[in-house]
Amino acid sequence: MERERGIVFGFGGGEPAAAQVAKELGWRLGRAEHHRFPDGESLVRVLDPVGGARQTVVVCPLDRPDEKTVPLVFLGRTLRELGAGRVGLVAPYLAYMRQDKRFRPGESLSNRLYADMLSSAFDWVTTVDPHLHRIAGLESLFRVPARVQHATAPLGVWIARNVENPFLIGPDDESRQWVAAVAAHAGARYAVLEKVRRGDRDVEIRMPAGFDLAGRTPVLVDDIISTGRTMIETVRLLRAQGSANPVCVGVHAVFAGNAWEDLKAAGAGRIVTTDAIPHPTNAISLAPLLAEGVREMAARVSA
Ligand code: R5P
Repeated sequence: MERERGIVFGFGGGEPAAAQVAKELGWRLGRAEHHRFPDGESLVRVLDPVGGARQTVVVCPLDRPDEKTVPLVFLGRTLRELGAGRVGLVAPYLAYMRQDKRFRPGESLSNRLYADMLSSAFDWVTTVDPHLHRIAGLESLFRVPARVQHATAPLGVWIARNVENPFLIGPDDESRQWVAAVAAHAGARYAVLEKVRRGDRDVEIRMPAGFDLAGRTPVLVDDIISTGRTMIETVRLLRAQGSANPVCVGVHAVFAGNAWEDLKAAGAGRIVTTDAIPHPTNAISLAPLLAEGVREMAARVSA
């Protein structure tokens, strides 16, 4: 008898994305439970049989990683113990990638430690636009096959369809290539700013020489909106120069604390994110991209 092709589980906020990915792939949607005991410990339980499928996939956005990762690792390893074929992780957002060097002596290299932990529970990993500025590639962090996907096309298409006369603005020189790719998909011009971060919430933004919006709608694009300070300071600067309310577009809606409210209060126009992390600002679906990543990894790591 033909083996079932695959099962998709959603976990830690990844349930809606898992349902869409399962639909795109024509795979079964599995169910898992997570119970948190009063003392903070976790118990996970797989509710559907997994033994017959070639591939099992868990979709879990890894924002708030400290509370999600222990049960996620338990789930990956439990699926294997229950006889699942290859167990892959689709982490639309992958945490800890920004701590990619010892900025001060003695600090942890969190990106490597975190990738190592996930490698113990999954046979492959995919993620969308992780912060890899000083890293050769995701494969150099993980002990299992790992693949990066880019949201540049869905972002660019959304901007082209929804913003009249857009001019894209990236936060810093490190983002230049990525912003250029979004701008190409949007059919728009772009510029990148100069950013100095002095602390978690202390960011200074400078305009490059010759910066000119030429009457276009500013569209700030960034991979992560975390404290929101990068976008807030940019919005303030542009507003002070008399620009229209900038449209803010991010891949990962982390929005720590009051970041969303503060960004609105600073004078942002529409604030839009992908559904990599569930948030009221989500307007750009990544399901087709995630499903494409699963197809590729399933072909590469066949069971
Ligand atoms: C940094 O290099 C990233 O690309 C983002 O610009 C940064 O993570 C945004 O963080 P925040 O919202 O805290 O300013």
